Amino acid sequence: QQSSCCELSAFPSCTAAPFRGHTGRLCTLKNKQVTGYLLFSLSTAVIGSLQFGYNTGVINAPEQKLLAFFNQTWMERYKEPISPGVCTLVWSFAVAIFSVGGMVGSFSVGVMANRFGRRRSMFLVNVLAVIGGLLMGFSTICSSYEMVIAGRLVIGLFCGLFTGLTPMYVGEVSPTPLRGAFGTLHQLGVVIGILIAQVFGLEVLLGSDKLWPLLLSLTVAPAVLQCILLPFCPESPRFLLINLNQEEQARKALVRLRGSEDVSKDMQEMKEESAKMAVEKKVTILELFRTPAYRQPLLIATMLQLSQQLSGINAVFYYSTGIFTSAGVKQPIYATIGAGVVNTVFTIVSLFLVEKAGRRTLHLLGLGGMAVSALLMTISLLLKDIPVMSYMAILAVMMFVAMFELGPGPIPWFIVAELFSQGPRPAAMAVAGCSNWTANFLVGISFPKLVEWCGPWVFIIFTIFLVLFFIFTYIKVPETKGKTFDEISRCFSGAPPTSSSSVEAPPTTATTTTTTGGGSVSA
Ligand code: GLC
Repeated sequence: QQSSCCELSAFPSCTAAPFRGHTGRLCTLKNKQVTGYLLFSLSTAVIGSLQFGYNTGVINAPEQKLLAFFNQTWMERYKEPISPGVCTLVWSFAVAIFSVGGMVGSFSVGVMANRFGRRRSMFLVNVLAVIGGLLMGFSTICSSYEMVIAGRLVIGLFCGLFTGLTPMYVGEVSPTPLRGAFGTLHQLGVVIGILIAQVFGLEVLLGSDKLWPLLLSLTVAPAVLQCILLPFCPESPRFLLINLNQEEQARKALVRLRGSEDVSKDMQEMKEESAKMAVEKKVTILELFRTPAYRQPLLIATMLQLSQQLSGINAVFYYSTGIFTSAGVKQPIYATIGAGVVNTVFTIVSLFLVEKAGRRTLHLLGLGGMAVSALLMTISLLLKDIPVMSYMAILAVMMFVAMFELGPGPIPWFIVAELFSQGPRPAAMAVAGCSNWTANFLVGISFPKLVEWCGPWVFIIFTIFLVLFFIFTYIKVPETKGKTFDEISRCFSGAPPTSSSSVEAPPTTATTTTTTGGGSVSA
């Protein structure tokens, strides 16, 4: 795929800045078929990403309020205070069960999206946000901490589904030349959602003793808003044409999205995709594991997802208020919000860098930087009696988050789609998504216990993981920047690369080639 002027797809050579071509000319959005209606549809879909971010970040600030609520409920029932061990368990359960829902949700995306369509699925899934939000909102009135836990589970299911549905819908309605740029809107939505949750979590806003149930149930509002807006959005033209074979409907949707009667290019591309899908048989999850040719890309995809979660990022996003408090920070909530701002800024930085520096380089840089930050965090926690150390803790957390968004945050989500061709892609995405949520769960459930066991040394665990993932990435992960899907899958299947653009192998592997059944892959 050769990039034309101002192309911002996944594989352009001219992405010095969004909406700027390699000739340096600013290209108008109109040339790229960006209409108000398209932006409206994208914004409506990205409400789902915002919801994922909001519910990831919302549990952080009201930690103490929730612990007090658990204790109070326990007292009412058993006439004695809750033991610290049980309290920690209930708390980490309330945090981590979100990811159990996410695991199930992310695994069900394909089935739901194909059965009900993309738009109707998003509409239906919002019911879960309403149920979950209400459960958490009424938990204090009903004196039930179980309702908080049940609510978090339902909300997790909801978010797991949206981590698949939003990127799918966004990818399918975007014009090809801007699909990469719009694709990053998902992670941007996530980080903005986290930030909103942190700001609303302020004691003066909704993080107070009385209002925290409202903070947790606020997720109902965007769900209702999205349900009001969705009927005005089109169903994905790709779904209409490829899945339902409704050519005329697909054409109508495209005409509205592109704001032009001439949509023959888009229609042609979709028909080709449709034909390719008919030739390239769909691969089930079982076949994905059994076929030797998929082993290498599957290993890479899964490891990258694991590196995202086992980096410890959500230990920060779920528990940073507690981390800052133990480092002696006076106003932990403001430090947490600062981390949210850094998170958002660096996601935008990554958007500008990823096509220039490449995925591999940025991922390595991110993992390395995070490992150093985790070390700094450990030092500041160990020496917390020295006053200046609380500043170092804040700095270390900011650096940790910034380095995360440079590579390990956004890259694993979209590289999976790059590593697989049309047939195995849906199955690979389900496996990758589920492994991401599983690792998210493990970090969420174990972090408070790990803090109890390891004290200030806890971030050393993540440093070790980060170093291991750094080594793995250095040895195994190829650069996919500027390559077409076809070129990348050829690299893994052992077919000879086309023309001059074979995928660059990692440096240590340049001379060795291992045969893996279906073909040879650099190993
Ligand atoms: C990614 C991760 C998510 C994390 C977020 C932080 O989207 O998947 O778990 O909370 O980044 O920005």
